[in-house]
Amino acid sequence: MQTVILPYGQLLLAVEALKSGEIVAFPTETVYGLGANAWDGAACLKIFEAKGRPADNPLIVHVLDEAGLLELTAGPLPDCARKLVAAFWPGPLTVVLEADRKVPAAVRGSLPTVAVRSPSHPVARRLIELLGAPVAAPSANRSGRPSPTRAQDVLEDLNGRLPYIIDGGDSPVGVESTIVDCSGGAPVLLRPGFIGRDVLQKVLGEPVLLAGKNTAHKAPGMKYTHYAPQAPVIWINMKDEQRTLQALDVLRKEYSRLALLAPESWQFYRTQAFRGIGQDVNAVAHGLFAGFRELDRTHPDAIAVVWQAEEGGVGLAVANRLGKAASRQVTE
Ligand code: TXA
Ligand code: MG
Repeated sequence: MQTVILPYGQLLLAVEALKSGEIVAFPTETVYGLGANAWDGAACLKIFEAKGRPADNPLIVHVLDEAGLLELTAGPLPDCARKLVAAFWPGPLTVVLEADRKVPAAVRGSLPTVAVRSPSHPVARRLIELLGAPVAAPSANRSGRPSPTRAQDVLEDLNGRLPYIIDGGDSPVGVESTIVDCSGGAPVLLRPGFIGRDVLQKVLGEPVLLAGKNTAHKAPGMKYTHYAPQAPVIWINMKDEQRTLQALDVLRKEYSRLALLAPESWQFYRTQAFRGIGQDVNAVAHGLFAGFRELDRTHPDAIAVVWQAEEGGVGLAVANRLGKAASRQVTE
């Protein structure tokens, strides 16, 4: 199959493909998604095949609004979901709720629950609207690779495995949505994302538990290796600049082709390749995956990332993705 990158003005071709049971990639404000009609179980299975995704790792369903959510879920919305939807939709927030029985098992990874979000990206919204059905879509990368934030990244991973990639430019956020499980009693943060835990707790007026730490809840996808470029990633997670410099010197001896992903202030440091990721955490979130992919194209022996972990806002998500991508971490 030939894969064509479509300018978003030709989105109707992608809608027709979805209607006939094909999969297509499309931009969202977080990362690019690989979508299928969520009511079409056979089409959804094609997503797993194209990505090389384990069958027990369920998909996120994309809808326009709360009415779209209610078609996918059982019973009335719990308070937690109602508040989150009111505060953050459309936007990078996914809620997990008990699924309606007509949601295909492939979408749910055979769980009794379903994950749903309403994207704010105009191209994603138009796609759902013209299809007239919810769109099930995980990130449009091969399983284990960094999520794509540009049409070209999708092509790099999935060329020949789908008919169309709709080009909507750079995904503005750059990391995936925050996932909150509202299916039990207390809300649980399954995956940190652009919307931070601090803001969630403010909106909900109660503590949000962290998956794995103080609860058994989890997103099946979080157990797999993720977000890794081809070259090993070494994360230098330190405040002290002198010690960061020393750590880099050690790595440069160890790897003759070392690439560096760091705030622009590190550009003076000589490595085989350098990419700036900005000085603040929002810029880092936006540029992290694109940076991995760009440096990987220079075929380094290793990629060193200089960034000090933060807890607030999107900081938790950046630390989570970096922690998963890194084979090694250097800390104080
Ligand atoms: O921003 C995003 O969320 C992007 C865009 C395309 O919307 N999507 C995305 O999907 O990142 P991805 O590839 O991360 O896969 C969905 C994640 C997995 O970690 C999966 O385990 C979790 O959501 N998930 C899906 N359904 C779930 C459920 N019923 N219960 C718990 N976790 C679920
Ligand atoms: Mg993914």
